[in-house]
Amino acid sequence: MFPALLTALSIVALSLGVLGRQTTVVPKSNFVPLHPASTSSSLQLTLVLPPANIDGLHRALYDVSDPQSANYGKHLSKADVEAFVAPEPDSVKAVTDWLAQHSIHAQTVSPSGDMLRIDIPVSTANTLLAANFTVFKDKYSDVTLTRTLSVTIPDDVAPYLEYIYPTTQFVMPLQPKNPPFEVVTLPPKSKRQTDFCAVDVLPECLESYYHIPTTPANATGNSIGVSGYIDEIASEQDLQIFFFAWRPDVPTPPEFTVVSVEGGITSGQGTPEASLDIQYTVGIATNVPTTFYSVGEPSAQGAIDLVNFLLGLDELPLVLTTSYGFFESGFDVDFANTFCNAYAQLGARGTSVLFASGDTGVYGFEFEGTCNTTVFEPTFPSGCPFLTSVGGTTGFDGPEVAADFSSGGFSNIFPQPDYQRTAVQNYLNTIGTLNAGLFNSSGRAFPDVSAQAVRYITEVNGSFIGINGTSASSPVFASVVALLNDARLNSGQPPLGFINPLLYSQGAAALNDVTSGSNPGCGTQGFPALEGWDPATGLGSPDFDKLLALVSGIQPGFSDEIRHSPSKSVFDAEGDIYHLM
Ligand SMILES: *[C@@H]1O[C@H](CO)[C@@H](O)[C@H](O)[C@H]1NC(C)=O
Ligand SMILES: *[C@@H]1O[C@H](CO)[C@@H](O)[C@H](O)[C@H]1NC(C)=O
Ligand SMILES: *[C@@H]1O[C@H](CO)[C@@H](O)[C@H](O)[C@H]1NC(C)=O
Ligand SMILES: *[C@@H]1O[C@H](CO)[C@@H](O)[C@H](O)[C@H]1NC(C)=O
Ligand SMILES: *[C@@H]1O[C@H](CO)[C@@H](O)[C@H](O)[C@H]1NC(C)=O
Ligand SMILES: *[C@@H]1O[C@H](CO)[C@@H](O)[C@H](O)[C@H]1NC(C)=O
Repeated sequence: MFPALLTALSIVALSLGVLGRQTTVVPKSNFVPLHPASTSSSLQLTLVLPPANIDGLHRALYDVSDPQSANYGKHLSKADVEAFVAPEPDSVKAVTDWLAQHSIHAQTVSPSGDMLRIDIPVSTANTLLAANFTVFKDKYSDVTLTRTLSVTIPDDVAPYLEYIYPTTQFVMPLQPKNPPFEVVTLPPKSKRQTDFCAVDVLPECLESYYHIPTTPANATGNSIGVSGYIDEIASEQDLQIFFFAWRPDVPTPPEFTVVSVEGGITSGQGTPEASLDIQYTVGIATNVPTTFYSVGEPSAQGAIDLVNFLLGLDELPLVLTTSYGFFESGFDVDFANTFCNAYAQLGARGTSVLFASGDTGVYGFEFEGTCNTTVFEPTFPSGCPFLTSVGGTTGFDGPEVAADFSSGGFSNIFPQPDYQRTAVQNYLNTIGTLNAGLFNSSGRAFPDVSAQAVRYITEVNGSFIGINGTSASSPVFASVVALLNDARLNSGQPPLGFINPLLYSQGAAALNDVTSGSNPGCGTQGFPALEGWDPATGLGSPDFDKLLALVSGIQPGFSDEIRHSPSKSVFDAEGDIYHLM
């Protein structure tokens, strides 16, 4: 049961009588206005300023991520990335002058200075933005959002300010959902069936089927980060029990570091999602220094806050895995681009950013038990072209097939990047008119890759439970990337960074192509997994040996062509959020 969706028509228009750039939205009917927001209550607003040269950032990202480029692996410094996204001084001046006229002081909250934050009473915000902040309630949950249906930015400020969040963006905060797990009783190793891995997944199964090495990593400078939200926490004690039971080959269970972002909790009894994510990173990428980032802010802003926190570090985690997400239709183009450009900055600096694709097949959400079969609903941020989206499979003991819940499809916001065009076109040619009209074939298609997603044995607060979901696939694929980085660092090569250009140009042969199953949703069979890339399993699941051979042999080429960079698009938004499990 997962409620809460909305539609927000994003209209930018000039209305009579109000001078300035007005943005007006119509939220979907599940959002009911309750009452005007209390004028004395405080609003925390983030002002996003236009980046100096975002196309330059995208070009630089592709340049260091394309194995054909002479600059492959020459990731950008913190200062180089900031120079692309920093606002022009004129923008900072125009916006801070405008705020100062209203006696508002802004705090800079991103390392490049492209985001400012203010805390003001609702009454001030209503005046400043010609807004009418109102408390809206989601009909199907207890969630309330304080939003306005209209904001106006004065004409002399508008060119210097992209948008302000949260004003007209009706994106639900992350919420816990009933996780699809069951408590399992496991026989001791000596009594296990030889085909144990056909039923339950343990590290040894992943090591066996995906050829992942058991030798602990040892490269200096290696690292992996695990995102955590909504008070999910992993405990060291659970991890030790997990290692004692399932990694007896590792005498001393590695520890992981917990870092709090925006007031996230740093200790507590283990919860399912965080325990899964930590046990299948530390338990697979064993000995790669692992940091759990516990983000206290559950709204979409929390995900941006995490990236801003990371971008402020001199040493980033080389891999970042996230098993949480949203539905794309809650996002307008500007807000969506902020996320995607945040991941582009991480990639440019050499971090491989991986996201679980979601567990809702082609259709994003269930609305009171019924589905809207009009269009498929992409998840977010999997539609961002600058990250690697990981779908789910099952039966990796053979034959490996698409997990029926594996989210995949086509973004309605982000255009299809060049690196995947041929692979996606081949798929579209094969399926012909299947699902025609239900998805946007010119959009960025996902997932990129996949991994087993069913029955992961996880130690949570004293019990072993089995967990299903692409939530498991992302940490596993991320661990594979971390171990590939280990080999590269050991031989003096840079880390892999943004891996999609490599995967689509040369990586397919190093992955297990998954060619059956599908991700049905709401009256359709969804997208079938077929030979080559498909929107259920991407290019396939990892074969570590082949991937290692591939990444060990890359010789940067010399074709240094200008790369495609996404342009802005407008899409009528509709949305919801899910907590992937
Ligand atoms: C402001 O919103 C409230 C609901 O919160 C509504 O009743 C009122 O009519 C709105 N005022 C204006 C001027 O639109
Ligand atoms: C997980 O998937 C397996 C295989 O499809 C299924 O048997 C099991 O019931 C699922 N578990 C949950 C909790 O959904
Ligand atoms: C690091 O691990 C690799 C792979 O297991 C091994 O070949 C190498 O000898 C190790 N290096 C050190 C310094 O232990
Ligand atoms: C289904 O979604 C479409 C597009 O968002 C919308 O126009 C239509 O009203 C929805 N239908 C139902 C039954 O909710
Ligand atoms: C389809 O996606 C493109 C971006 O690739 C976008 O410009 C266009 O508006 C989308 N169309 C619809 C109907 O969503
Ligand atoms: C963990 O287990 C203890 C003891 O069984 C129980 O009291 C506690 O509520 C559990 N914590 C969580 C988060 O489930």
